[in-house]
Amino acid sequence: MTQKIFIASDHGGLNYKSAIQDKFKNYNWVDLGPHSSDSVDYPDFAHALAAALKDDPDALGILVCGSGIGVSIAANRHPHIRAALCTNATMARLTRAHNNANVLCLGERIIGLEAAYDIVDTFLKAEFEGGRHERRIDKINDHSAS
Ligand code: RB5
Repeated sequence: MTQKIFIASDHGGLNYKSAIQDKFKNYNWVDLGPHSSDSVDYPDFAHALAAALKDDPDALGILVCGSGIGVSIAANRHPHIRAALCTNATMARLTRAHNNANVLCLGERIIGLEAAYDIVDTFLKAEFEGGRHERRIDKINDHSAS
């Protein structure tokens, strides 16, 4: 079955949101907006994507804003989200392999489009390694002792 990927941005990430979907056509994209260049608030879209992933836990997500920082902070407020802001393909590979990241965050004002394509390609192909990383991921939300 084709991998489903929710994608959203704010006005600062709108161009990359479209470009990524055009480049990687062999995925089942669900575009959660925005659908115009009007100024919007990035948390609205990060929270919408988090809600979509809650209902569809096998899917992945991509969030784009100007820096990538705002969407990553907002998305990570949700316990079921492990959102990783990546600026290179090594980060994208490692965050899937070790953190089982389910959301990739990108900054349109930070990285070039070719780099963004490499990051997306790597993130979508990489797989979680499990094992010792499973225990560490469990501890992210279980911090009652700290
Ligand atoms: C919008 O101007 C900008 O603040 C936003 O895209 C993002 O960079 C926030 O972290």
